[in-house]
Amino acid sequence: MKNLLCSLAMLVIFRCEASLAAPSASDPNLGRNLAAICANCHSPNPRDNSAIEPLTGMSKEKIVKKMHAFRNDEKAATLMNQLAKGFSAEQIDLIAGYLSSQGKVTRRVK
Ligand code: HEC
Repeated sequence: MKNLLCSLAMLVIFRCEASLAAPSASDPNLGRNLAAICANCHSPNPRDNSAIEPLTGMSKEKIVKKMHAFRNDEKAATLMNQLAKGFSAEQIDLIAGYLSSQGKVTRRVK
């Protein structure tokens, strides 16, 4: 009985860990949460005045196409090739879907 309870407890713990390690696509906020990584450099805040262009408001097709070009080393880049390889096609689709649904940002003139 003790062994059975212990096994059940382990099963619950491992299932929790598994769901933390691999967030499910059924999470409605997954695209937004993954896109938060992009905002560190592609800031949607006009006040940041970053040299790296914002992605919000860019078409989903354009983001997906460029991300796959980076992943496949078809588009030259300093760091996006490495970064894009860290995402699955499904994750890129979710990220692009979220970013394209956001309002376009107009940066102030430098
Ligand atoms: C560490 C900074 C950094 C992060 C984080 C980052 N990018 Fe980039 N991104 C760049 C830079 C720099 C470029 C210009 C290409 C290069 O040199 O790598 C770029 C270029 C791009 C371009 C091409 C823009 C164009 O008009 O050609 C796209 C699309 C893009 N990034 C998407 C993303 C997405 C999606 C994410 C999040 C998953 C992301 N980036 C995260 C720095 C970053």
